[in-house]
Formats: sequence, C-alpha cells, structure tokens
Amino acid sequence: MDLTLLAQAQEDLCIFSPASPPAESIRDVSMLVLAITGVIFLIVEAVLFYCIFRFWRRGKAASEPPQVYGSKPIEVAWTAAPALIVFVLVLVTTRTLWEVNVDPTEPHEGDGALFVTVIGHQWWWEYQYEYYNGQKLGFATSNELHVPVDEAEQPRPVYLKLKSADVCHSFWVPRLAGKTDLIPGRTNHIWFRTAVPGVYLGQCAEYCGTQHAKMLIRVIAEPSADFEKWLANEQKPALDDSAAQTGKAAFLAQSCINCHTVRFPNSPAQGTFGPDLTHLMSRASLASGILPNTPETLHAWVADPQKHKPGCLMPAFSLSEDDRALMVGYLSTLR
Ligand code: CUA
Repeated sequence: MDLTLLAQAQEDLCIFSPASPPAESIRDVSMLVLAITGVIFLIVEAVLFYCIFRFWRRGKAASEPPQVYGSKPIEVAWTAAPALIVFVLVLVTTRTLWEVNVDPTEPHEGDGALFVTVIGHQWWWEYQYEYYNGQKLGFATSNELHVPVDEAEQPRPVYLKLKSADVCHSFWVPRLAGKTDLIPGRTNHIWFRTAVPGVYLGQCAEYCGTQHAKMLIRVIAEPSADFEKWLANEQKPALDDSAAQTGKAAFLAQSCINCHTVRFPNSPAQGTFGPDLTHLMSRASLASGILPNTPETLHAWVADPQKHKPGCLMPAFSLSEDDRALMVGYLSTLR
C-alpha cells in the first residue's frame, strides 16, 4: 500500500468526524443527546449555585426555610418534562437505529456493493471476501479491509457479516459505523459507504482476552480502479518465485501449514486457524496492526511472536537460524 494512504490515517478515531452515513446518524444522535443533557446540566447547576449563594446560612440565627409538600403543579411539571424528553430521545434513537440497520440485501449483478464476512479471532480479524458488484469472490485476507469508495454515479456500499471463531469481539471503526459485536453462534450485520479515500482505523471494542488491545483494524478505502487492482491480485494464487523454492520447501515442511493457508494448486498449507498468508506482503502491517510488515519485522515475529504479543496463539518454533531465514525469504515473496 502506498505511504500517502498510511499518512492519511492520522490515528483519527473520532465519532465526531464521520465519513459514512451510519456514522453520521450516530454523530447526529450523539450531538442531540449531548445538547439536551447539556442544557439540563446547566439548569441544574445554575439552580444549585443560586441556592447555595442565595440561602447561605448567615450566623446562628438562621432557621430552616418553610418546607413545601404536595404541590400538584410542581409534581406534574417534574414528571411531565423528563417524560417528554425521554419520549423525544426514544423517537430519535429509533429513527437512528433504522438508519444504521442493514437492508436485508442480496448481491446482484452491477450493484456496486461489496460483501465481506468478518470473523473475529483471538486476536486478529479474518475477512472473507464474498461478492463484489455481483461477482463471486471467495478469498480470505486479514486485519486490513480494502473497500472501494463511492463515485458520482455509483454508490459502493459495503455489507459486513460479523461472526466469531471463539469469544465475543466487537468491530468498531468509529468514522464508518457504530460498534457491533461478533458473537459466537450468531451473525450480526453492519454496512457503511464512504466517498473519502483513506485509511480508517478501528479497534476491537469488547474485551476478548489478553491481547484485546492489540486487535487493530485498518479499513483502506480506495478509488474503485485501485480497489479492483487489489482485488485481482488477491484472487490470484500465491506467487511462485523460482528464487524462493528452497524457502518454500522449508516453510511447507514446518507445522506452520496446520494453521496457515498459502493458496496454490495442491497446496499442503490449508490451515484456517491463523491468517491466510497467500498475499501476506500486500498488507502494510503484521499481527493485527501492531508491527509494520517488513521482512525484518516478519523475521522478528516468526522468531518470537510471544515477545511482541504475549499470549497470542502463535508459538515460537525452535527453528534453526538458516531455516527461519529461508522461510521468511519465501514469505517475503508473497505479494
Ligand atoms: Cu477482540 Cu477485543
């Protein structure tokens, strides 16, 4: 991925700068709630301070003020006003829920829509690309979700199905959509679309174990030409670099293949427990966004994943330095 896109990411996780209709709806409802509760706060504080200063106890002679019981107008006022406020908030929230909810839509030819199944794992994200523009896709990648941006005549909505492989996670990219849980045995849905290219950062928002904080999300929104180029590359089988054959053999001989997939005809690497490595080097980051993805960091990661992400489910295998260098050499060719 090019560096300008990375620079645009700017760590912006603010719900007040939405870039997608569901995020805008959520921003609007948040502003309304903040405004109403803000006004209530100001009134309560004003009355409180007025009372403190107006009825300050002056000397020993001061006595209790007259106590008022059972004033009907006051009782009615302080019951009706909050009930009305709650009623307004219920209406607005219900409308927002409708807006952010997904239309139960099915992929069809020329719809411009992208359908992806997101699976939360301890502690990374799997993205199974299902359909784009009505065409069946059928490949998987992880942690970095590429999506196309809207164009003048062609909206390009993204529909995500959210599932979990183990415990509850929560998919949250604040500038694109509200946070939604990934629950074992259940499928949730969200959608978004954006016209602004860039990298949108997100985070798992439900405590899911020791490395919950290091379960980062990057959504890379690209013009459709760039997205389609990326898509075409991801659909291809793994690159078979003739210079990396020894490394390939070294990799395929290890138990890595029980957990990872590298897609090529008759590949023995068909594991689904860890991220698909078919186009590993097309990703800008490693280990769910915690390390930049370079051959050097990849080497350090393979040598000791527990050092970078203690408790993660990838163990450090005791490989010889030569084997590790060969393997990393091969993995580095998987663009
Ligand atoms: Cu996954 Cu927190």
